[in-house]
Amino acid sequence: MKKFFAQIAAAALCLCGCQSVINEQVESEESSFAGVQSEEESAVVSSSAPESSAAESSVPESSAAESLTPESSAAESVAPESSAAPVGDYAIDITPYIDSINSENLTLVNKQHSVDAGFVPANLADVTYTRTDRDKGKMDATAEKALCAFLEEAYHYGYTDVTVTSAYRSYASQEWYFNYYIEQEMASGKSREQAEAAVLTYSARPGTSEHQTGLCVDMHNLPAADQSFGQTEAGKWLAANAHRFGFILRFPQGKEDITGYTYEPWHFRFVGRSHAEKIYEEGLCLEEYLQRYGTEG
Ligand code: DAL
Ligand code: ZN
Repeated sequence: MKKFFAQIAAAALCLCGCQSVINEQVESEESSFAGVQSEEESAVVSSSAPESSAAESSVPESSAAESLTPESSAAESVAPESSAAPVGDYAIDITPYIDSINSENLTLVNKQHSVDAGFVPANLADVTYTRTDRDKGKMDATAEKALCAFLEEAYHYGYTDVTVTSAYRSYASQEWYFNYYIEQEMASGKSREQAEAAVLTYSARPGTSEHQTGLCVDMHNLPAADQSFGQTEAGKWLAANAHRFGFILRFPQGKEDITGYTYEPWHFRFVGRSHAEKIYEEGLCLEEYLQRYGTEG
């Protein structure tokens, strides 16, 4: 478990509830708010959830998988040493992605473990498979590469209309969404207190959203995120295959009391393949996994 803790330390986020600054780089207010205009929150969660925004109502264009050009496969070439599973287990050639898939990140951000308002991930990269009617999303570059493999495998199997609708969100962006949802809930007759309680079941208070880490995405093929996605063939395929690419379904059904959020079949979090496989096989959420394996150090 020493390695486990080293990974957590490398992620530089405290697991004991204190706030930690990972990176001193601060996004300018201007660019934060520019991002707000184009980002999507997980909007339609239940009948009491807010209406989807206009931006969400357009149906995405299909984004076919890029055909991958396998790297030179000379007779002596072998999978990288870091490869823990045969490359042949995948329909696509994951050779170019294997190091990213195998990389590990157990950073925990939730209602009990916040992140500083000024934190911006150091290595943000464009999200290749952002929905075409959006500005390019950004996320952690390693997670993004693993995500490319995940989605290209999905596209190979015909789920070509699954795209990323939200990725990294700045503190300001999350604040905008959170306040927007509270206003929406109040418009339906709730007091501010009631509205905030309702919103906190599906949207994170600024500083407590995993989206600020750049390690997760919302992706689906619906006009707006909806729990019904979990019953679609695409949603089922993503949930059943995420671990092979280092991702987990972060807010599963039945774990609401632990994660603090309702089921989000569209929200996938990168943790790295070895952790993702264990989390998947043992039916855990991230909090349970960290509690079960992260305290043995
Ligand atoms: N919808 C998730 C919980 C977030 O706002 O981060
Ligand atoms: Zn999300």
